[in-house]
Amino acid sequence: MAIRTVTDAIRYVGVDDNTLALFENRYPVQPMGVSYNSYVILDEKIAVMDSVDARAAEEWLSNVAQVLEGRSPDYLVVTHMEPDHSGSLMRIAQEYPEMKIVGNAKTFTLIKQFFGTGALSEDRMLEVGEGSILSLGSHRLQFLLAPMVHWPEVMTAYEETEKILFSADAFGRFGSLERTARAPWVPQARRYYYNIIGKYGAQVQALLKKTAALEIQTICPLHGPVLTEGLEECLRLYDLWSQWKPEEPESILIAHASIHGNTAHAAKTLKGKLEKKGVQVNICDLTVTDLSYAIASAFYCGKLVLASSTYDGGLFPPMKEFLEHLQTKGFRNRRVGLIENGSWAPAAARLMRTKLEEMKDIHLYETVVSLRSALNQASEVQMDALVAELCAE
Ligand SMILES: Cc1cc2nc3c(=O)[nH]c(=O)nc-3n(C[C@H](O)[C@H](O)[C@H](O)COP(=O)(O)O)c2cc1C
Ligand SMILES: [Fe+2]
Ligand SMILES: [Fe+2]
Repeated sequence: MAIRTVTDAIRYVGVDDNTLALFENRYPVQPMGVSYNSYVILDEKIAVMDSVDARAAEEWLSNVAQVLEGRSPDYLVVTHMEPDHSGSLMRIAQEYPEMKIVGNAKTFTLIKQFFGTGALSEDRMLEVGEGSILSLGSHRLQFLLAPMVHWPEVMTAYEETEKILFSADAFGRFGSLERTARAPWVPQARRYYYNIIGKYGAQVQALLKKTAALEIQTICPLHGPVLTEGLEECLRLYDLWSQWKPEEPESILIAHASIHGNTAHAAKTLKGKLEKKGVQVNICDLTVTDLSYAIASAFYCGKLVLASSTYDGGLFPPMKEFLEHLQTKGFRNRRVGLIENGSWAPAAARLMRTKLEEMKDIHLYETVVSLRSALNQASEVQMDALVAELCAE
């Protein structure tokens, strides 16, 4: 990929990955791809900001060399040790033996765990901590630790002269730069946030408190585009997301998991009834929708209706997995309605309720729609009662 200019002195040397199927071996990144971002700051001293996934090592090293024009980097700053960023760390360390690796105490613990205790000599490790300054000449990096956003060693770096925040995975999004150049930031940033970082809202809040004191003109994340416009909106959304607050408190997501289609039909009937009342409704078939998208939709809305068949005395697996993933990511602070189906011993509503009661600040609507195979008059009455509750609060 072509080298991009962030500013006169700062170049983007990251790499697009358009062939990866699953990010973290779990989250689909086709057809949008993903980027592993890396930057070079050219000054009296040269700093490379993070390495890239091992899949992208060759292209990245070639980008770095092109920008360096024969010079050698003085520092590799490691803001995050997850292998999608540290996978090429030893490659560049070998390529430039004079270069020091900049990290915090936890970074070096992880470097030793990943690459072996003797992989880097002690004199190549430059340890920084909260508030440490690394001067490159006219550019100065101030380090702000961001533990558990979303790994323990994560730190961000604020470049004081050009007012740039190197934000590690925070503010990143799926989508390679080439394939999603004109795509809006929000949808894939939301999916990235809730699936990758979501559990650690409190730690994101702590980082946001630190960055609130800074004047930020540009954010350079480790995935997706460099952010130069609309930063206020990105920060507002991160503040909202990290408090698990819905973007649309009155919108409803109906998520259904149906074996033979009757539960799905009931979910669609509910959608129609709610829309007649003028409510904004999204619907998600959990049997065909990837969990990462379903999760993002659920967090987006203030209200959720779960509709599931009973399956061998348990929940139909797509609903079970959905609820478990929601729980892992800290789902809370929502109003939830239940629809169950069971032809002989319905158990889905009870099982969904049990799971939801383990989560924080979940308000369950009183009415439960209980189908015995297919929607009938009795369950329609229940559904109307649920509609009334969903519209009342
Ligand atoms: C493999 C299988 C297991 C089921 N297990 C139960 C069960 O344990 N209890 C129950 O009441 N219904 C059970 N059912 C029936 C379904 O929960 C549901 O009532 C029926 O499939 C109609 O809804 P649907 O069209 O949304 O799948 C089962 C159905 C299948 C195919
Ligand atoms: Fe990460
Ligand atoms: Fe990452």
